[in-house]
Amino acid sequence: MSFKGEHILSVSQFDRDTIQHVFQIARNMQPYASRQKRTKVLEGAILGNLFFEPSTRTRVSFGCAFNLLGGEVRETTGMESSALSKGESLFDTARVISSYSDVIAMRHPQAGSVAEFALGSRVPVLNGGDGANEHPTQALLDLFTIERELASSGQSIDGMHIAMVGDLKFGRTVHSLSKLLKLYKNLRFTLISPKELAMPDDIVSAIENAGHQVNVTDVLEGNLNADIVYQTRIQEERFPSKTEANLYRGKFRLNQEIYTRYCKSNTVIMHPLPRDSRIEANELDNDLNLNPNLAIFRQADNGILVRMALFALTLGVEGIITNYECAVPWYSNKHSG
Ligand code: CP
Repeated sequence: MSFKGEHILSVSQFDRDTIQHVFQIARNMQPYASRQKRTKVLEGAILGNLFFEPSTRTRVSFGCAFNLLGGEVRETTGMESSALSKGESLFDTARVISSYSDVIAMRHPQAGSVAEFALGSRVPVLNGGDGANEHPTQALLDLFTIERELASSGQSIDGMHIAMVGDLKFGRTVHSLSKLLKLYKNLRFTLISPKELAMPDDIVSAIENAGHQVNVTDVLEGNLNADIVYQTRIQEERFPSKTEANLYRGKFRLNQEIYTRYCKSNTVIMHPLPRDSRIEANELDNDLNLNPNLAIFRQADNGILVRMALFALTLGVEGIITNYECAVPWYSNKHSG
């Protein structure tokens, strides 16, 4: 089972065995992510981190993950600061950047763009989100988080009930996560969204054809009695106008009162982040911040582990990380990751 030299473009590249292999490598990364140990296994390697759409977590955690393995990061952010804005093709950009880099992480607003870019690349390309299509590394870290959170209460992914809430039409994280979850057994999906922002039919059919139970609804209350509630943001950037996005903003808010009334006492709350905390949206209220089942920051931390694992695997160093360990001479709180 090797990902050496492979692009990571879609969750369809993974099955349950390869997912567990990635997760085992991710768990091995914990001492490095939490600064208990340091490794220089990727010393001399360069990550081209190309983000043509806004990002905080994915961009920075790709960069940090690469640094934590000893590599260096070169970044481009925003279409306007790239020659793509002068009409350069994705193929040409890929051809050039891939001779400057050993691996590339990329986000772009168009569905299919990262796969198109990969055709011109001579090094592995990791999809950091292509339009409303896919966000495979987010789905892997989401699944890793679900597995960890459920394990802490003696549960497994097989047989679980997940409620996905919000913009299920444009939310690429729920698209990719659903495609991974359908690999498991006997799941219940409750898909809660405005009718206009429902999960695409092809994804619902794929889940049902894999033998899972699906309930589609536009009512939040009474439908949150799940093991996992995965809240999402209205993907304003995918709407024709902000006015249109405003029609749906704030429709499905989750706060402590609703949690207490409708969720199980151990329902895990997830969100890929960013949560829209503006008053007109506030889809995941700050009053949940002290709820121990709010997993959103553990989820974001897990992004470091999973992205370190993917870099190690695509560059073929997953088995030799300990050979390149060195001391951690500075003060560190040892909580990261
Ligand atoms: N979850 C996620 O993709 O966050 P960013 O947009 O901040 O990268």
